[in-house]
Amino acid sequence: MKGENRAGRRVAAERHSVAGIPAPGRYWTGAAAALAACLALANLPAVADGADAREPPALRGIMLDLDGARQAIADGIAREDWRAVAEAARRIAEHPQPPLAEKMRILAFVGSDAGRFRGYDRQAREAARAIGKAARRQDRPAAAAAFAAMQDACIACHATFRKPFQERFPARR
Ligand code: HEC
Repeated sequence: MKGENRAGRRVAAERHSVAGIPAPGRYWTGAAAALAACLALANLPAVADGADAREPPALRGIMLDLDGARQAIADGIAREDWRAVAEAARRIAEHPQPPLAEKMRILAFVGSDAGRFRGYDRQAREAARAIGKAARRQDRPAAAAAFAAMQDACIACHATFRKPFQERFPARR
């Protein structure tokens, strides 16, 4: 059947793209294997939409917390409150992940862009770790440079993924 062949090719492509990502960040790693196994299910719109309506929008809550931490870092750098900077940077570097079911829907949705999506998350977390290190050295220029790099990662991911997410998951509003 035509549809089955298409789905089969898509699953094969997903497996390839998941397997092709070198050492993905801790954030999304756990879902990769389950994702490959569950893609056929995730591709059924009725199943995916039913789950969307029931699940709390964890990603959005995580994003709001990232934004609070981003503001705390900016304030902390301005006041040279290095303890506050290090603490807020840790909240970003070690941010929680959505529950597995939501994570799988997200990865199924981003599809062959999963590597890019993960890459932006990894960039943001690595920059946050660099902010933390700079804060512990009380190194203002290094903290400011790492902060700029972190915001670049936030903005790059949003430029690509935010609008499609908000259109795909309108129940999040
Ligand atoms: C890997 C991709 C990615 C990265 C990195 C990322 N975001 Fe997001 N962000 C998203 C997506 C997708 C949405 C849309 C989610 C939604 O509204 O359902 C979003 C939404 C948001 C929102 C809007 C929430 C709302 O009320 O609609 C804020 C604020 C936000 N992100 C802050 C941040 C900050 C600050 C950073 C960097 C520290 C960051 N994000 C990094 C993907 C990312």
